[in-house]
Amino acid sequence: MIKYLGSKRRLVPLLGELITGLGDVRVVVDLFSGSARVGQGLKARGCRVIANDHTAFAATLARCSIEADDDVADDAARLIAELNGLRGVDGWFTERYARRARFFQVENATRMEAIRQRIASLALPPTLEAVVLTSLLEAADRVDSTCGVQMAFLKRWSARSSNPLELRLPTLLPVSPHGPGRALCADALDAAAALDDVDVDVVYLDPPYNRHSYLGNYHVWETLVRFDAPEVYGAVQKRRDVQTRKSPFNRRSAFVGALAAVVDRLRARHLVVSWSNEGAIAADELVAVLSRRGPVRLAAEVAIPATSARASVSTIGAVSASRTRPTSTPSNMSSSSMSRRRRGHDRMMTEPRRSVDAAPSSPDTDGP
Ligand SMILES: C[S@@+](CC[C@H](N)C(=O)[O-])C[C@H]1O[C@@H](n2cnc3c(N)ncnc32)[C@H](O)[C@@H]1O
Repeated sequence: MIKYLGSKRRLVPLLGELITGLGDVRVVVDLFSGSARVGQGLKARGCRVIANDHTAFAATLARCSIEADDDVADDAARLIAELNGLRGVDGWFTERYARRARFFQVENATRMEAIRQRIASLALPPTLEAVVLTSLLEAADRVDSTCGVQMAFLKRWSARSSNPLELRLPTLLPVSPHGPGRALCADALDAAAALDDVDVDVVYLDPPYNRHSYLGNYHVWETLVRFDAPEVYGAVQKRRDVQTRKSPFNRRSAFVGALAAVVDRLRARHLVVSWSNEGAIAADELVAVLSRRGPVRLAAEVAIPATSARASVSTIGAVSASRTRPTSTPSNMSSSSMSRRRRGHDRMMTEPRRSVDAAPSSPDTDGP
């Protein structure tokens, strides 16, 4: 798995317990899937998972973890062995990301370039292609020279950037007894609409918390997956389309409206929502949006220790929602109780009757 800002890596077991604890949960949608760790954890628990993210690289990670199953492991392992043996090719990618910007050492960048070209030339079935692309992304992530995001590269090479690039077989799981997984690459609202005909038990919502776009933070991964030699600009050679492919969830003024539109569109029995009190939406606004569907409950909260950069505060919330919208909107999760919480503590709220208090030893945000 790659380093990913806002990843719920450390919360996967707790989220899995909370979501499957909602009762008779077979089909789960992870609408903002990012690193795909949450969906992967749910697939490991036997759920049929449908993952969605609007970036191509995140959708590729999900296609590998969620849509591909362990029956492609042998083919993928053979391919990965072949790709590891390729000699480097010095071209567009190496020039941008190892010379003009210094995300990778030249030798590793040339091997990434050769491997990516070879994958493109093979015209593989989508799931197998996603597995080898994920293998390449994970390998590149292990030898990058960043602090975990691609808005900057380090002045001096990171120690790991000198290691040779090595592709490994990503984790592949057996298919769920409830049906095959799917990975979508769409705006959350479009994905919600596309799920109209699917009988979904739970939708997990983990939208961005601030104005920083994931496409901007991980533009090199987007380019490595699309391999489209885009127009780039600036010292970090960012894709020009970062300026136009915007998400309403990165704008404070648009966040509530966008979330409300998604919540209104979803037909699932339950919604489970991650919430951070450092995020774009205030507690009372979140409760108001979620209450449109039914009672909202705080299920758990997690204290996350302050990092050197900030007092990290993250809350996971959940709403229990009936398919038909109630006329009155009772809520047993009061916004005042949410906003009373001290900064520097993380909370987990979830819908199930049982409440879980857990204190992970480090932030849910994956560090470099
Ligand atoms: C907080 S991260 C999710 C982290 C994920 N739960 C994990 O554990 O890795 C938010 C994700 O939402 C995606 N995103 C942002 N705006 C979106 C939109 N309008 N539609 C779909 N996905 C979006 C981002 O690309 C990012 O991967």
